[in-house]
Amino acid sequence: MLMIHLLGLAMGVGTSFAFMFLGIAESKMEKEERMKFALNSFALSRMGHIGLTMLIISGLYLITPFWGSLASMPLLIAKLILVLTLSISVSLATVYTRKARKGDVAGNLKTIASLGKVTLLSGIAIVVLAVLIFG
Ligand code: HEM
Repeated sequence: MLMIHLLGLAMGVGTSFAFMFLGIAESKMEKEERMKFALNSFALSRMGHIGLTMLIISGLYLITPFWGSLASMPLLIAKLILVLTLSISVSLATVYTRKARKGDVAGNLKTIASLGKVTLLSGIAIVVLAVLIFG
């Protein structure tokens, strides 16, 4: 299960890093090209969704021995709150991606980029907390 958790981590947080580098590449493009490139790059979000699903399913199995002592593990509670934050930002990004696909690319791209930052930062913070707790 820890192996599935770590493969999910590679796919999930890897997607956030990939979007950060795609964003840097987009910033150097003309508006028209940037919109087209952004729409095509949304295909990568599927990898992120699969990674997050693997993390949550394996995580819920891995956490079973710790439920009883959860109240005395503040860092684990913080990790779970951040997992919730991450899941909400990914869900919102999915909603805005659908809106962008339907038409208003430029208008939704800014919101998606901000949500991308929240997702990447919470993903990194979760890894730091997980290693502090279990490493
Ligand atoms: C519902 C969601 C999650 C739960 C319940 C959960 C729970 C756990 C548990 C119990 C472990 C310890 C496994 C062990 O060694 O026995 C663990 C390890 C780990 N988790 Fe999660 N996790 C979740 C989501 C995530 C997410 C979203 C990330 C990253 C973005 C993440 C990153 C890690 C890492 C890096 C480790 C390995 C820490 C180490 O062994 O040093 N987890 N997780």
